[in-house]
Amino acid sequence: MAQLRFFRVFSVLSILLFLPAAAYAVDEGTRKSLVQFMNKLAPQREPGWGWNLSSDPCADLWKGVTCSSPSQTVKKIVLEGLELSGILDCDSLCSVKTISVLSLNDNNVSAVIPEEIAKCKRLTHLYLRSNKFSGKLPKGLSRLNNLKRLDLSGNDFTGELPDLARISGMLSFLAQDNRLEGGLPEFDFANFDEFNVSNNELVGPIPDVQGRFGVASFSGNPGLCGTPLPNVCPPAAPPKKKGGFSLKRFLVYSGYILLGLLIIVLLVAFKLSRRAKRKEDCRKNVKSGTASEVSNSRSNNKSNRTSNSSTINTRGNRSEYSITSMESGMTSSSLVVMDNRLVKKGLRFEDLLRAPAELLGRGKHGSLYKVMLGDRLLLAVKRVRDWRISKEEFRSRMEKIDRAKHPKVLPALALYCSNEEKLLVYEYQPSGSLFTLLHGNRDSQTFDWGSRLSVAVSIAEALAVMHESLLVDGIAHGNLKSTNILFDRDMELWISEYGLMPVDDQDPAYTPNNRNSSGRSGIFSADIFGFGVILLELLTGKMVQNNGYDLATWVQSAVREEWTVEVFDPTLTSEGASEERMVNLLQVALKCINPSAEERPSMSLVAAMVSKIKEDDERSLTWSEA
Ligand SMILES: *[C@@H]1O[C@H](CO)[C@@H](O)[C@H](O)[C@H]1NC(C)=O
Ligand SMILES: *[C@@H]1O[C@H](CO)[C@@H](O)[C@H](O)[C@H]1NC(C)=O
Ligand SMILES: *[C@@H]1O[C@H](CO)[C@@H](O)[C@H](O)[C@H]1NC(C)=O
Repeated sequence: MAQLRFFRVFSVLSILLFLPAAAYAVDEGTRKSLVQFMNKLAPQREPGWGWNLSSDPCADLWKGVTCSSPSQTVKKIVLEGLELSGILDCDSLCSVKTISVLSLNDNNVSAVIPEEIAKCKRLTHLYLRSNKFSGKLPKGLSRLNNLKRLDLSGNDFTGELPDLARISGMLSFLAQDNRLEGGLPEFDFANFDEFNVSNNELVGPIPDVQGRFGVASFSGNPGLCGTPLPNVCPPAAPPKKKGGFSLKRFLVYSGYILLGLLIIVLLVAFKLSRRAKRKEDCRKNVKSGTASEVSNSRSNNKSNRTSNSSTINTRGNRSEYSITSMESGMTSSSLVVMDNRLVKKGLRFEDLLRAPAELLGRGKHGSLYKVMLGDRLLLAVKRVRDWRISKEEFRSRMEKIDRAKHPKVLPALALYCSNEEKLLVYEYQPSGSLFTLLHGNRDSQTFDWGSRLSVAVSIAEALAVMHESLLVDGIAHGNLKSTNILFDRDMELWISEYGLMPVDDQDPAYTPNNRNSSGRSGIFSADIFGFGVILLELLTGKMVQNNGYDLATWVQSAVREEWTVEVFDPTLTSEGASEERMVNLLQVALKCINPSAEERPSMSLVAAMVSKIKEDDERSLTWSEA
């Protein structure tokens, strides 16, 4: 009986709740903006298209509109070849914050692209090919940090290109058949798969196309010069900003040094893979790897230049610290190829010799380099110093991590292990790290609440699985932080450098040999602390200093003094992210950064809590907008 009454009340409630909701999935403000956008774009249009205030873009399937399920927000607008002859109203369009794709290809849209386009922060694809656009391109285009593909070809654009090279994740840029002037931005062509600026009035040198694009991408611009065009550039004017230039050169040179190492490593890799009996070899050599040898090897290195070192010196980049930082005994046994792709790619050594490398960062325990092999393969090489772990132990550790094969944990392609130095070769991830996503270009970046929750869930779930499968071996990540969360070109998340750090016993997040009730050792709870700090970064948008203790202390004191809301990233608050769920996530973060390692929840518990918050959030989106 009680059950029945409950059911009745519930159904009345749900009618009350859902009835007004059933009419419109998208709120009125958004619908008004969209209709206004369309009124400017196509004042006369067929009524069958929808795009009126008495219907809903998602529920009534407005022409060209694609909505995301389950949140029922407008994601894409694709209106191609429809003889649209109005103008582009970015003010209205970009007030709909959820739009990621706009295509108006093959229409008759005219006038300029308004500066307000900069407000369309989520745009990843903008296609305006074959229209009647004219005038200068807005500077704001270069602030669309999420833009992947931009097609402006076949219009009547004039003036200079904005500095689109600022947008790091771009994959294609098409602007042929316009009247664009001035120089080309310093595009990094490594990630591009399409590029065309033919038939414009561009001038000056072409940036290094890295062998990717030919004459057909640049022809019809009499003022352009340099490869791949036949006309050679005149001798360069005196350098404008000397400092930056020499720094760059320094980075390239230090890269060459590492490259030398890599060549040796890869040479050996080829031999090795032919022999296919590397396991046995390595073991034979481990014997010599004693601690005393490690401490001596530094002083011996200078006198101990090997024949390998001369390979590098003939390149003319002799440098004091090139070989001296390496041990003398670089033997084939020290290299392990984890992934045959390196061999299969058919790399030529000449390519390797020519490949430039760049120092990306230097930390307490090592440095990270970016190395370009051939014109396609970009590698990240991590060099770990001063880790007193035997070659054998290091190798078996890395193989265990490799065997876990978690789809979100970045696998090493190869590793080199000597007593004193470890090199790990990874595929380079072009879209940066969580750190750069959160803190690079604050003003022009949108990284919304839903995406932040997804990132949190992905990391937590991956770590929960890794912790479980490597619990017996005692291998945790060891250095979990936002700079180690990477994104590939599809913005898929990867956790890098798993298990790659010497455990730092000075770090209070790590409590040695402490096993709590569930049997986790201290090193696993250090990961949980690290994850808590990542959650704090996602919630506050603030940068971490001092291993996260500053941020943790600040948040804890703010919460104690009941300023909880003050800690959240203002962009989240203004976007309308649910305060309740931000507080819930903050509570998970605070559990993770509990000063007492035993009190921290396990990673699988953390993953469950974070996933629950995300589910609640998605459900509420469908509710509130439904
Ligand atoms: C508004 O759009 C809906 C959905 O396409 C359509 O059925 C209706 O006729 C339109 N109303 C007007 C007044 O044009
Ligand atoms: C575009 O406008 C021109 C006239 O300006 C017209 O001749 C042409 O048919 C139009 N094209 C489309 C696709 O509407
Ligand atoms: C670039 O555009 C021009 C002019 O439209 C075209 O002829 C050429 O084939 C294009 N180049 C490439 C590489 O597609």
